[in-house]
Amino acid sequence: NKLRRPVIAGNWKMYKTRDEALQFIYAVNQEVPSRDLVESVVCANDVFLRDLVKRQGENIKIGAQNMHYAENGAFTGETSPLMLETTGVEYVIIGHSERRAMFNETDETVNLKAHAAIKHELTPIICVGESLEIREAGTTDQVVKNQVVKAYLNIDRNQALKTIIAYEPIWAIGTGKTATPEQAEETIKNIRGVMKDLYGADIANQVRILYGGSVNTKNVDSLLAQENIDGALVGGASLDAASYLTLVNAA
Ligand code: G3P
Repeated sequence: NKLRRPVIAGNWKMYKTRDEALQFIYAVNQEVPSRDLVESVVCANDVFLRDLVKRQGENIKIGAQNMHYAENGAFTGETSPLMLETTGVEYVIIGHSERRAMFNETDETVNLKAHAAIKHELTPIICVGESLEIREAGTTDQVVKNQVVKAYLNIDRNQALKTIIAYEPIWAIGTGKTATPEQAEETIKNIRGVMKDLYGADIANQVRILYGGSVNTKNVDSLLAQENIDGALVGGASLDAASYLTLVNAA
């Protein structure tokens, strides 16, 4: 009884040249299912976002992988939400665990970026997820709850509706070690519970929550079959056009 429209978002990370990115978009444009059925998104490097937006078909949308929260300023090398807005992208990944681990992203900057994205009419894909140590210590639910609560600080009900959450257990990213559908469902159900506490059942039942971490063409069906999993944020398996198409068709 899922009323929520599924989302399959590719996260290309720091892969693909401009030519490869354009080849991909030409290959999938006519093949992706209707947007009424599934939101197909690819999140690419800033350098060629505009090139992709100009060539995107009507059923695929482009996203960025990060941005600064400030509109402008002395932040050498950074991209502002205003700049992203002018490229025509509709999504932005926020708080990916790689950025939390390597580029000083914190729960506080995630919250500031979520506000900035909403202000600029970009849909934030807000990433949360626990490390292997936390999973093994049995505190996943508390840790992920804390990330969600902090990410949504001062975000109101209407704004929350415009967001997407991606649950990505760090131990499952790029490791080939997927969370079992049951593990993913359990944590995502918990996240939906947190959203219910924050915004009420009506909003919580509408917000899309994705799973990410070694999603591929073989395990996607069993993950998407779970009641609370509304799609996937996909790294490696989103790089190849045929594989990406298999994933969006599964949704
Ligand atoms: O954001 C998606 C990502 O972190 C998962 O990567 O390669 O395990 O699908 P991958």
